[in-house]
Amino acid sequence: MRVIVADDESVSRNKLQEIMEPLGKCDFFEGGRAVIEAFQESHEEGEPYQLLMLDIGMPDVNGIQVLHEVRRIEKEREIHDENRVKVIMVTAHPDKDTIITFFRAGCDSYIKKPFDRELIFTKLEELGFKVAEKEEKPARDRSVRENVAQIIERFKKGDIDLPVLPKVVQDVDDVIRRSGSTIDDLSRVIEKDAVISAQLVATANSTLYNRGGGKFQSLKKAISLLGFKETQAAVVAIASKSLYETKNKQFRGMMEKLRLYSLASAHGAASIAKTLGLKETEKYFLMGLIHDMGNVLLLWMLGQLVLHDEPADMNDIISSIHQMHTAFGAALLQRWKFPEELVEIARMHEGPEFSEATGKDILIVNLAGNLAFETGYGFIEREDNDLAGLDSAKLLELDANALEILAKEVQELVDHSESVF
Ligand SMILES: [Fe+2]
Repeated sequence: MRVIVADDESVSRNKLQEIMEPLGKCDFFEGGRAVIEAFQESHEEGEPYQLLMLDIGMPDVNGIQVLHEVRRIEKEREIHDENRVKVIMVTAHPDKDTIITFFRAGCDSYIKKPFDRELIFTKLEELGFKVAEKEEKPARDRSVRENVAQIIERFKKGDIDLPVLPKVVQDVDDVIRRSGSTIDDLSRVIEKDAVISAQLVATANSTLYNRGGGKFQSLKKAISLLGFKETQAAVVAIASKSLYETKNKQFRGMMEKLRLYSLASAHGAASIAKTLGLKETEKYFLMGLIHDMGNVLLLWMLGQLVLHDEPADMNDIISSIHQMHTAFGAALLQRWKFPEELVEIARMHEGPEFSEATGKDILIVNLAGNLAFETGYGFIEREDNDLAGLDSAKLLELDANALEILAKEVQELVDHSESVF
């Protein structure tokens, strides 16, 4: 790989040289301007860099400005998100505001001075770089973390057959985004998928949506009862159910937990949005439903590809995939062509930090996930959480009382919809 290391202090440059040079061809710079020029040139020459390590405090053009400029150049060159250069910011003072600024400017990770080789390697692996030429060991001899890293690498190369979301999901999204679409338009694309149509009618007939109304068979009636956005959320919920199916018997229990967690998060996010008086609560349902797809698909691939018959330590597996699930989930939703706001939620819902500047959507989904754990739909053992003490709850101004009401609501909604979705 080609790497740029930019730092005005020679001590830092030397240290990073020692760590990074065995991994690839590194160019070193003392200032930001030269980095921008080299980056631009590398594209002109058709040999772009794969990684930039940018010190924040450089005298001419600082690291953040370089990052902005790099992302601008990539946009101008219409470089696809998946192929953007990975940028690691370097700082001696990684306080909350600084980190938020980094991520908002489009960095992928950050490291702290003084440098820790192991930590840098871990971050590089998380970003999909191979840090050491390891011998190809059979899956059973690799640690879970190594297996997960290998899966992510194969995913990036397009070397893995992912389960696909039925085409109807994309078609429905297209219709809903087009202005002036009618129930007929929506019905036409859904009816092409007989299974989903039938399940959608059943869903609309269920007590979750149709309390006391007469039973009906028509897809159009179902759509008009649900409304466009709710129809879309229901289609995604129905279509994504198949993603929780695995041939790996050991993983089935965990998959079911993840399914219920996502359903509880979906209801939680919609209920929170309603409590806050926001419109389009169905949008939040969808966000809650798919925010943790990274976990689901990593587990699916692990079960499918590498650990089919090996005895699995579920705690080890879940903690390994959890470290990777946000970045991976974002890449996955991008590949599935979900809109950018949903990709952003997959990427940001675990933090690292939340502040006044964090989008409400992200706070809502974070809180909904925690609410799901609290109501018994978590997928790993964890200590009781003080929900009202979470940053997301505080920033949304929801107190213990409000959260208790929400928890009850989520419980009830999941009870009602568990068999539907
Ligand atoms: Fe998550």
